[in-house]
Amino acid sequence: MTYLLALDQGTSSSRSIVFDAQGRVVAQAQQELPQIYPRPGWVEHDPREIWRTQLATAREALARAGLSAGGIHALGITNQRETTVLWNRATGQPVHHAIVWQDRRAEPACARLRAQGHAGLIQSRTGLLIDAYFSATKLQWLLDNVPGARAQAERGELAFGTVDSWLIWQLTGGRRHVTDVSNASRTMLLNVHTNQWDEELLALLRIPRALMPEVLPSASDFGATDPGLLGGAIAIGGVAGDQQAALFGQACFSAGMAKNTYGTGCFILMHTGGSFQKSENGLLTTSAAQPDRQAQFALEGSVFVGGAVVQWLRDGLRAIPASSEVQALAESVPDSGGVMMVPAFTGLGAPYWKPDARGTITGLTRGTTLAHIARAALESIAYQSAALLGAMSRDAVAAGSAPVSELRVDGGACVNDLLMQFQADLLGIPVVRPACVETTALGAAYLAGLSSGVYASQEELARLWRAERRFVPTLPRDQAEALMARWEHAVAQAVLPAP
Ligand code: G3P
Repeated sequence: MTYLLALDQGTSSSRSIVFDAQGRVVAQAQQELPQIYPRPGWVEHDPREIWRTQLATAREALARAGLSAGGIHALGITNQRETTVLWNRATGQPVHHAIVWQDRRAEPACARLRAQGHAGLIQSRTGLLIDAYFSATKLQWLLDNVPGARAQAERGELAFGTVDSWLIWQLTGGRRHVTDVSNASRTMLLNVHTNQWDEELLALLRIPRALMPEVLPSASDFGATDPGLLGGAIAIGGVAGDQQAALFGQACFSAGMAKNTYGTGCFILMHTGGSFQKSENGLLTTSAAQPDRQAQFALEGSVFVGGAVVQWLRDGLRAIPASSEVQALAESVPDSGGVMMVPAFTGLGAPYWKPDARGTITGLTRGTTLAHIARAALESIAYQSAALLGAMSRDAVAAGSAPVSELRVDGGACVNDLLMQFQADLLGIPVVRPACVETTALGAAYLAGLSSGVYASQEELARLWRAERRFVPTLPRDQAEALMARWEHAVAQAVLPAP
């Protein structure tokens, strides 16, 4: 039997999964990752904890699978993206906590870049809209605020990396300082047309070139694990940022294929093939996982509050004792009774971009019950996703491509049949849940399997992808459009005048 090991280093936990060559889960292990909130709006991780938890789960998953390093054909890595680590090359020690993608401390630096008129240049080179979300201004903050860091960086003593680079450095005993194109495309420093660090952007942001890792295709030789770590050397053959890995694990390999990951937030990515498409609807252009040197792109949008709305029902409203009970409560009524919830708790992202919006519940009557509100909360996840996918389809059509014709789904909330059916009804296209919903880790394993010869081609991977259930739209289109119109009306209510 052939086995692949995927390391999935996420925001809230580190996980490791052993897959067989058919893409079936053989064993897995998971450890929570402590979150550090030094100030409002700041979010950090201890890079040593990232490494410790990741290594521990890799060992545990191997033990549970009854395998040693020799039984693993290759290893793939997928990770929370944008999170920024800076470490000393000689000691291997981080010079500061990692600044997590959610951290907003670099917003003033981004505001300056926007005011100086750099938005066009940055979007055309990187595909990104200037935002504190990406690594570049986080790295700039570290260089400017960690005593001595800038001088050390200029002397070539420090290394920068996203979480993939940090893990590979540790796994290879400091022998490799590398990243893959999909992670690099989230730094706001990569020229996504050439897959090289952009010298002009490095100069603009005052980032010394010596800090930067080598950029490789997503299925490449990323080195081998130090034999002392996992009981033997394992080839690291695949790396991709978690959302691009999920797109890959869903076998969305060609233009117009899209996936939605329903987690705390939702991430929708639509492959656009080899063409770099600039969004007219506030979406990001990002590099898809690229198994070889051929450029491949995707459009990306995210819903800030997805599954988090269920946590709010549980912890804020105390409407349900456990998240798993939301479906039963929502299903106890035939519909939301006209109630519409816009969970704009932290503002609204694409395609609205209204940071000042706040949550609203509209359409309340004397007959409204908690069940209607629970149903509206669940439906809000589908409405927000439908609005994003609508924007993607408009971008696709404007670029002469076909609109999205099916949505592949994964992430925790995709097990909710009510939500998936409603999503299909709103979109008017099938929503398809795969047999393996661990698509993020699977994508990393597939990339490792491609580079190490387990799989001959992406076509072979596409044949391995299996649907577990297809949710086919049943609602007439005019009714779905009327619902979307009511949603847009509710969104307009979510932007309130200042008190
Ligand atoms: O862009 C951030 C994303 O990569 C984080 O994903 O699943 O770790 O929350 P996750």
